[in-house]
Amino acid sequence: MVQAENDKAQLSGREGFGTTLGVIAATLGSAVGLGNIWKFPYIAGENGGAAFILIYLACVCFIGLPVMISEFIIGRRANATSVGAFKKLTPGTPWFLTGLSGVICAFFIMFYYTSVAGWVFAYIFKALNGNIVTGDPKIAEQIFSGFITSVWPPLIWQWIVLFVTGAIILAGVKNGIERITKTLLPILFILLIICVVRALTLPGAAEGIVFLFRPDFSKITEVTILAAMGLAFFKLSVGLGVMTTYGSYIGKSENLIGTGIKVVLADTLVSVLAGMAIFPAVFAFGFSPAMGPSLLFITIPMVFNSMPFGQLFLIVFFVLASIAAMGAMISLYNSPVAYLTEERGWSRITATIFTGLLMATVGGTATLSNSLLADVKIFNMNLFNFYGYLTDNLMMPITGLFIAIFAGWKLTRRAVFDEVTNSGSLNNRSTISFYLSAIRYVSPIAIVIIILNGLGFIKI
Ligand code: ALA
Repeated sequence: MVQAENDKAQLSGREGFGTTLGVIAATLGSAVGLGNIWKFPYIAGENGGAAFILIYLACVCFIGLPVMISEFIIGRRANATSVGAFKKLTPGTPWFLTGLSGVICAFFIMFYYTSVAGWVFAYIFKALNGNIVTGDPKIAEQIFSGFITSVWPPLIWQWIVLFVTGAIILAGVKNGIERITKTLLPILFILLIICVVRALTLPGAAEGIVFLFRPDFSKITEVTILAAMGLAFFKLSVGLGVMTTYGSYIGKSENLIGTGIKVVLADTLVSVLAGMAIFPAVFAFGFSPAMGPSLLFITIPMVFNSMPFGQLFLIVFFVLASIAAMGAMISLYNSPVAYLTEERGWSRITATIFTGLLMATVGGTATLSNSLLADVKIFNMNLFNFYGYLTDNLMMPITGLFIAIFAGWKLTRRAVFDEVTNSGSLNNRSTISFYLSAIRYVSPIAIVIIILNGLGFIKI
């Protein structure tokens, strides 16, 4: 969701987002995506539910949010996107590598993100044909596994997703997409509430709610904590250069800390609603909450199956999910494209096609890891899981660590103060002290400890 803003910025001296709502809609458009409705429920399911969610929320609050605000500060201060922002603020130093590592990470995420988005696109058509409407849990599972273990259909859907995203980036219709996202996010929200109400009325639903809200800390391990932090980075689209770029479009009168808090609250609410729609159904239909990436695709058709207009709701659900995914993918795809055009001087068309082809080729290996490449393992993970593990647990947190060090220790206090108070015009003392202590101490120390602990180098 960046390209037209880039163009606009280049044409008119970096005009940026017009309104506060525009800033929040654009940022939320990148944050809300498959992470909320697909990844959050399945990772929470694999890691024991409520206790994991509490740790996730702590990571969002003390790591994700401060890093997001820092990216806004860096982008707005430099008035440049990602790599360029670091170059402008600290010329001639290796700090630009922080921006570059975010760009590379966004690229890697697309390998598997587009694969899942392909499943979502395919499910729209399957819902239209009535193919996935079933009340039988076994059939729901068979339909999904039959689809993802086939070779061509999921691969072709992934490529369609990439083609559409690339075409949107090339056409520069960001404003259109932004407007669509602004309208559709509230609809997705309402539909999720309908799903929640439906799921809560299923027999046995209470067990799902207990799973989601009653913590059992015995389920927490070092790996769980690392997964919670990774999910926080992924969810908020931080450590990817995306929020730095958005920061450069945010007007000087916008409250950066306030924007970050609003985005994080709205994003978290969507994730919790998705959890409340899915887990009651998981328990009601006798699925395992730890069934992994297939969770959404198996439970949601069952939730809608037994209600009036169920098929229609199912179609609308997957359409909205695909639009939410599209908002996130445009920001991810654009990250390398913006780098190649702005920093390397490539034309937009060459950069978009080159990036898309690489994503289609390497990303295809994520899709095929359920079929032809099922036996290819890296550290005991198939390629789909490996790309997710690498980006969530290492690349984003390490990039986030350097962003925290940069904002907390490298940028002058004056610069940070100017940005968070809008040159002294905002009186938000308590949020500023929260932000400063988080970014200087809590976030970097926590990131280092969680990574080392998660990888088994230390024991906490
Ligand atoms: N933040 C994006 C999502 O949650 C990547 O889907």
